[in-house]
Amino acid sequence: MPKDPALATGTGTGPHHVAIIMDGNGRWAQARGRPRLFGHHAGARRVREIVEACPDLGVKYITIFAFSTENWKRTQVEVAGLMSLFRRYITKEAKALHDEGVRVRFIGDRVRLDKKLIALMDELEQLTAENDKVHLTIALNYGGRDEVARATKRLAQDVAAGRLDPEQVDEETLPKYLDTCVLPDPDLVIRTSGEARISNFLLWQSAYAEYEFIDTLWPDFSREIFAELVQNYGARDRRFGAVKA
Ligand code: FPP
Repeated sequence: MPKDPALATGTGTGPHHVAIIMDGNGRWAQARGRPRLFGHHAGARRVREIVEACPDLGVKYITIFAFSTENWKRTQVEVAGLMSLFRRYITKEAKALHDEGVRVRFIGDRVRLDKKLIALMDELEQLTAENDKVHLTIALNYGGRDEVARATKRLAQDVAAGRLDPEQVDEETLPKYLDTCVLPDPDLVIRTSGEARISNFLLWQSAYAEYEFIDTLWPDFSREIFAELVQNYGARDRRFGAVKA
């Protein structure tokens, strides 16, 4: 259940926090006889439309999976192209995101990212730190298992240093060490492109999330499809393991 009542979900009918696995860029490009990066660029353009749709749909938090800890296994050309796309995206979109009241955060391990990209990420987080209309979290070099391992390492360091009593470690303590510590858990996780997998995305946080696996490839995802999924969510009955009263 949500940690902070102020972040409580389920009070309205729609999802408060939506997380999206943006899959299918490569296939979308291939279907057009174009290189995979063409699909990633088309996918990046969709992000703006979907973030802009959030306030009208009552979605306060949106978290998108941009690059996983496993994505380094792709060709050097694709990885370099994606990194360059992220740098360009941040540079190009910063002002519009800020003007629209979007607070941007990044989750994931920054150690393998290049310094220029890290600096842009820091700048965008600082620029938008006071915004509260929509909270956009971009998962970049993110893996759920990696996140839990990094969190556990920091937790163990606190125990070793005498700052944390092992007896106090429970379901409330561990998430405080996760990259998502200030975010509510996702209510709805969407994956595009017909794959029904969660691919190491928000493993801890999605324990009670609803899932939507849809066939649409990410570059074809639209505000209308998003609205439909948000509406479907409103019709669901979330019980968090309890029996309905
Ligand atoms: C998965 O599709 C997509 C990715 C690994 C990259 C996601 C990146 C974007 C949507 C672009 C930009 C994002 C931001 C925040 C600017 P895939 O390539 O695995 O598709 P496939 O399964 O068809 O090959």
